[in-house]
Amino acid sequence: MHDANPQTIAPAARDALTRRDFVKTSVATAGLAGVGLSGLAGPSVARAANIRGSDQIKIALVGCGGRGTGACIQALNADPGVVLWSMGDVFAERLESSLKGISETMGDQATARVQVPASRQFTGFDSYKPAIDAGVDVVLITGYPAFRPTHYRYAIEKNKHVFAEKPVAVDSAGVRSVIETAKLAKSKNLASMIGYCWRHHDGMVATFDKINSGAIGQIMSLHTTYHTGTLSKRPRKPEWSDLEFQMRNWWHFTWISGDHIVEQACHSIDRGSWATGDRTPLLVNCLGGRAARTGAESGNSFDHFAAIYEYEGGLRSHHTCRQIDGCPADNTDYIYGTKGSATVNGWIPTFETRDLDNKRTWQYSGRDDRDMYQTEHDELFKSIRDGAPINDAARGAHSSLMAIMARMSAYTGQAVSWDQAMNSKESLVPETLEFGPMPYPPLAVPGQSRLA
Ligand SMILES: NC(=O)c1ccc[n+]([C@@H]2O[C@H](COP(=O)([O-])OP(=O)(O)OC[C@H]3O[C@@H](n4cnc5c(N)ncnc54)[C@H](O)[C@@H]3O)[C@@H](O)[C@H]2O)c1
Repeated sequence: MHDANPQTIAPAARDALTRRDFVKTSVATAGLAGVGLSGLAGPSVARAANIRGSDQIKIALVGCGGRGTGACIQALNADPGVVLWSMGDVFAERLESSLKGISETMGDQATARVQVPASRQFTGFDSYKPAIDAGVDVVLITGYPAFRPTHYRYAIEKNKHVFAEKPVAVDSAGVRSVIETAKLAKSKNLASMIGYCWRHHDGMVATFDKINSGAIGQIMSLHTTYHTGTLSKRPRKPEWSDLEFQMRNWWHFTWISGDHIVEQACHSIDRGSWATGDRTPLLVNCLGGRAARTGAESGNSFDHFAAIYEYEGGLRSHHTCRQIDGCPADNTDYIYGTKGSATVNGWIPTFETRDLDNKRTWQYSGRDDRDMYQTEHDELFKSIRDGAPINDAARGAHSSLMAIMARMSAYTGQAVSWDQAMNSKESLVPETLEFGPMPYPPLAVPGQSRLA
């Protein structure tokens, strides 16, 4: 499947990459101590169809920002056969700084593991196509949420394994597309891992396993929080078009990010869903607005939301999120069952259950030395090597839609059912984009804005 290319790592160089070297580099990479090792596949190891016969796994990075750069380093550390082969980003300088950062982090191994000559560096809105078509096996899709469904579809159509960041989309049309693509990926035995990284955190996994096995009884109510300060703003430069201005301030524009309940707080909404065994809510009522955001850079996003999901049988699940400076931060899941409660916080590690008298009944005491981002990539690449690629994209789409339906409810001031959200005609992302004028809707007004 690979292009014949003189830059392919020679077997000798590959062999020279010893386990010791690999561990050294892994540990040298900030926060990556304790990385699990997936050995190079031997002859007896089953291989995913499109990497059969090669110890190399070539990857493309599409979206070379903060998360993409991190994900790429984690992919390189997950398996000694991984080679960064191509890169695509809308902006040339983002690609350049990402490539520099990855090469510096890989240190001595950069020559062998980072093989991205100028001919495999692509920029612009369509850069994902040549980057994916460059003869790679796996694509890391880490651009803005608006573009995720398109990038994911293209990669799976081209028979690539995928790691894609959360959220999977910003609107219903995107979610439906991702669900369809996830089915296609399954039929082709291709990986589709969504970056809900807390699902790969040791303490979280142990705690949610306990909750799902009935340790606190039947879940009666839960409240997840994602309260932080605001995200940065980039003042407009005279040379920027409307579209470039929005792309540079992407968190604040609903059509690009989905708003912060979708872009950021979706992690907490995902964990709330995890606590219910990933049940589908019947509907959501969500309050929200903008109290402290000002200026054109703040686009049309809200700065606070409070969502109440209702489930069959009466369960109510609450989620609140806020991005306002000067207010206390919190990112906790408070889960209440018929036999007790659980408190889960990954920021200030808290993984515990209590009985109905509020006495602690269990506290996580397992390993806490693994970086969840590294673990998710270790698991992904191992699954590809093993020929049983992880595909959790449908679940990722489910959590993303839960966040999207809450935004729809907050913007309109109406209850939104799961079916309404799943079937909504709302489609926020233009089919084609060119730098130039780019109108966008005004701030939503609950009670006045209408659902598509
Ligand atoms: N799982 C996590 O904990 C976590 C953490 C941070 C970010 N994220 C997610 O990762 C994604 C990226 O976030 P980030 O913080 O890296 O943002 P960023 O702005 O640092 O980087 C995104 C990069 O993608 C590029 N890009 C955007 N659209 C593109 C397109 N159509 N084609 C090619 N390149 C494109 C941008 O130019 C930019 O360089 C977001 O969805 C975000 O929610 C997840």
